[in-house]
Order: sequence, then structure tokens, then C-alpha cells
Amino acid sequence: MNPMRRPLIAGNWKMNQGGAGAPHLAAEVATRTVELDAVDVLVAPPFTALTTVAKELSGTKVHVAAQNMHAKDSGAFTGEVSAPMILETGAKWVIIGHSERRQYFGETDGSVGEKVAAALAKKLRPIVCIGETLEQREQGKTLAVVGWQLDAFVKLLAAEPGYGVVAYEPVWAIGTGRVATPEQAQEVHAAIRARLTQVNAEVGAKTLVLYGGSMKASNAAGLLSQADIDGGLVGGAALDAADFSGIAKAAQDLAKKG
Ligand code: PGA
Repeated sequence: MNPMRRPLIAGNWKMNQGGAGAPHLAAEVATRTVELDAVDVLVAPPFTALTTVAKELSGTKVHVAAQNMHAKDSGAFTGEVSAPMILETGAKWVIIGHSERRQYFGETDGSVGEKVAAALAKKLRPIVCIGETLEQREQGKTLAVVGWQLDAFVKLLAAEPGYGVVAYEPVWAIGTGRVATPEQAQEVHAAIRARLTQVNAEVGAKTLVLYGGSMKASNAAGLLSQADIDGGLVGGAALDAADFSGIAKAAQDLAKKG
């Protein structure tokens, strides 16, 4: 982490906690993180739970994100949800281009770019996910892949430096228990930071770059102590309020140490 950037710990609930469990988990996250004043905390429930979770968390410091959006405001797009609709729920953030969206739902760098542009235009803060597959890593293509993925949207971040967030999530580390080592992650984060700095110095200095992929309370401090890792996008461990708040506490402790 870098004292210039306030860390963000974001929980991606994926297709879990759609019913009464959603506000319950959200409330537990809020209670367990209430004293953390040096870190931002965010939860991303499924669409159907956004309104109840946003209501549950209003008056707390915990932010709410959707997990996806359509680039158009409205129209004949069965099954899709737009940025204005997300804003109506009270959520102010959106995850874009998660590797599961790319892998299972045909999202491309092109559609990710359109979504990021639409989110920024609507004042919905995007957390844009990038990351290589195991095959790409083994072929030595990691930095090239994340470079192409960044090219799809990185210039858009110049409109308001620091407003958009990037999440580096190596696909081979997501949900596998196989976490990137702090050094492996830092190498890619440094390359992402360099690309952000090419846009301009302010984008490079202010844009948060989160790590995602099997992050838990027990491995968070090692990752978060790296210079260019500004927080986490957490899947499995975000469904357990104690583990998730443990990650936020690790970020808080590192931020306080400066
Ligand atoms: P994981 O998921 O923490 O379960 O690996 C991370 C993510 O997909 O954002």
C-alpha cells in the first residue's frame, strides 16, 4: 500500500446471499468494521439484494456495488440491468469485466470498455477487473494480457483520476485457494501502475489497484504490504463476515503504520 491511497476492501458475493441472508451479512460486515477509519469497505450483493442491502447499510460507512451492468440506459435487452437502475437501488459502485463474466457470459475487452464509459458517465464508480489465465501465465504472456485488457478502458480514467478502480485478479487464483504470492502480485500491479502513469501522473498516483484471488484474513497482510496493492476484491472470504472484516483490519493496520 501507499499512504497516498486509501485502501479499499471489496466483497464480491457473486451468486450468493440473495434472500434474507443478504441484509444480515451486510449488517454484520458494518458492525465488524465500524471502527476502521483508515480503510473503505464495500459489498457487492446480487442484483435482487441491492436495494435491501443499500437500505440496511445507509447511515454506515460500507459502500454497495452491483456485480455487472449493461452499457445502455434502457431498451430491449432482456435480463440486463442498467447504470441508472443500479443507482436507483442506492448502490454507487459497479464491478465490471469480472473474469467469470468474460469466461461464461462472453464479455470482451470491447464490452468492458463500453460499460466503463457508461458507468463513468452516470457517476457509478467502476471496479474494472483484469487478469490472465493459467495458460497465459505459463506462456509468459501475463503482462501482455493485462496490458491489452487495460488498453480497453484506461484512458477513460483520466476524466476523474482516482474515481475508477482497477482489480488485478489472476484467473488461476480465483476460488481455487491458490493465491498469488505477494511478489507475483506486486510484479503485475507495478506494471499496471506504470500503464496508469502513462495516461498521466495523476491517474497513476490516484487509481487504486486491488488484488483478487483467494484473499483471506490469513494471507491479506503479505499482499497488502506490497507497494502497488491498494486493497482487495474478495470472493469466498467475503461471505464470512469475520474473515472479511479480518482482511479490512489487516488493511487498516498497514494504513495506520503508514
Ligand atoms: P475468491 O474470488 O476470493 O473466491 O478467489 C475473488 C473474485 O472472484 O473476485
